[in-house]
Amino acid sequence: MPDAVLRYGDKELTLPVHTGTHGDAAIDISKLRAELGLVTLDSGLGNTAEGEGSISFIDGEAGLLSYRGYPIEQLAEHASFLEVAYLLQYGELPTPTELEAYEESVRRHTLIREDMKHLFEAFPHNAHPMQILASAVSALATYYPDALNPLDEEAVDISARRLIAKTPTMVAWSYKYRVSQPYIYPDNTHDYASNFLKMMFSVPAEEYTPDPVVAKALNLLLVLHADHGQNCSSSAVRLVGSSHSNIFSSVAAGIHALAGPLHGGANQAVLEMLEDLHQNGTSVETAVKRAKDKNDPFRLMGFGHRVYKNFDPRARILKKQADEVLDALGIDDPLLDLARELEEVALNDDYFVERKLYPNVDFYSGIIYRAIGFPADMFTVLFAIGRLPGWISQFRELLADPATRIFRPRQLYVGPATRDYVPLDQR
Ligand code: ACO
Repeated sequence: MPDAVLRYGDKELTLPVHTGTHGDAAIDISKLRAELGLVTLDSGLGNTAEGEGSISFIDGEAGLLSYRGYPIEQLAEHASFLEVAYLLQYGELPTPTELEAYEESVRRHTLIREDMKHLFEAFPHNAHPMQILASAVSALATYYPDALNPLDEEAVDISARRLIAKTPTMVAWSYKYRVSQPYIYPDNTHDYASNFLKMMFSVPAEEYTPDPVVAKALNLLLVLHADHGQNCSSSAVRLVGSSHSNIFSSVAAGIHALAGPLHGGANQAVLEMLEDLHQNGTSVETAVKRAKDKNDPFRLMGFGHRVYKNFDPRARILKKQADEVLDALGIDDPLLDLARELEEVALNDDYFVERKLYPNVDFYSGIIYRAIGFPADMFTVLFAIGRLPGWISQFRELLADPATRIFRPRQLYVGPATRDYVPLDQR
């Protein structure tokens, strides 16, 4: 790609253009301030590539997503979550021996320290699961002080395995505390998804066999959420990691970022919106009309995306999967019909067409989580379990890159000009 040239006043600066695998071009503006005294303004960082990356690729115009080059549709159909976790972190699909060894090492770390029970018990019963999860992930760092150095690859690797192994246990135990049921210990004879289902939904008094249909659906959901470029939470992880904070603190920051309703928190918000429409008998036409009204704060949750200006490929897979799971479980959920109707009306409405607003991953995921039996306020926690390998891979990529510097963006100051302090008694 030819360089770009920027003319400002009587100066001219040549800016190198970097090209990505798929021909995307990025102007390197790192010399801009030093040479021309300028910084860039980019609200929401929508036009800023923080660096180069090779973990996942999104073509928002075409509605494509791939992990390390593998299309999401193929991984969704064939791969297990731990296989994807391996692929994202180490860059290649594991061989059978590598996968077996990786699964075995994750299995060995599923237990959490018994003392951690007190952490869950310190929260009110109605605490939001995302707040608890962020605290628990942060607390994990205190149990492993010898494996916190972000520049020690071996330490990061063991911490990454611990995070992936222990998070489902922490999530399930915080849920058990909330519903006043005994904690269920991990059963390492199960696969990742089935083990989590057992810790969540079994009780010691009864036999429990995880339903393979449900385990398969959960595995798929985890795979679909595993990474997604430089989104808000991955950027939070990278930002915190750039100061050489440890991986637990960095991932905890990602969890907090994910919790917001404009990001991962949307899956809970979608379900609440559908429930609300259903309970109040609000027509989808009224909902769409409200979403278009700029004086009304109501938005169609689960619609729109900063990058996708075409169908989110994950939503396409989940729409089909929602049907299959509900059928297999014999559930007839009126919210699924409502979601389909809402999508149909919105996609034929000029407002949504012009703005290229399509359903995103959160639009159908909640309906499947609900069919499995998860309460709505746990939906974003499930997203977080899925996103762990992505956050970890982003952290590892950043720390392994010698070009990484602490993130320190500029800001254009538009506040008061310099003025003198006025003593309190003279104000
Ligand atoms: N309902 C109604 N209008 C919408 C919606 C929506 N869900 N989403 C965007 N718009 C409108 C905006 O009002 C704006 O209209 P305007 O140009 O007339 O002002 C236009 O579409 C562009 O929207 P922005 O908010 O500027 O787009 P941005 O890229 O900043 O935000 C976001 C993207 C946050 C996802 C937004 O579409 C949204 O709020 N969606 C609902 C929440 C949601 O589903 N979030 C999950 C995202 S996926 C994820 O994080 C996993």
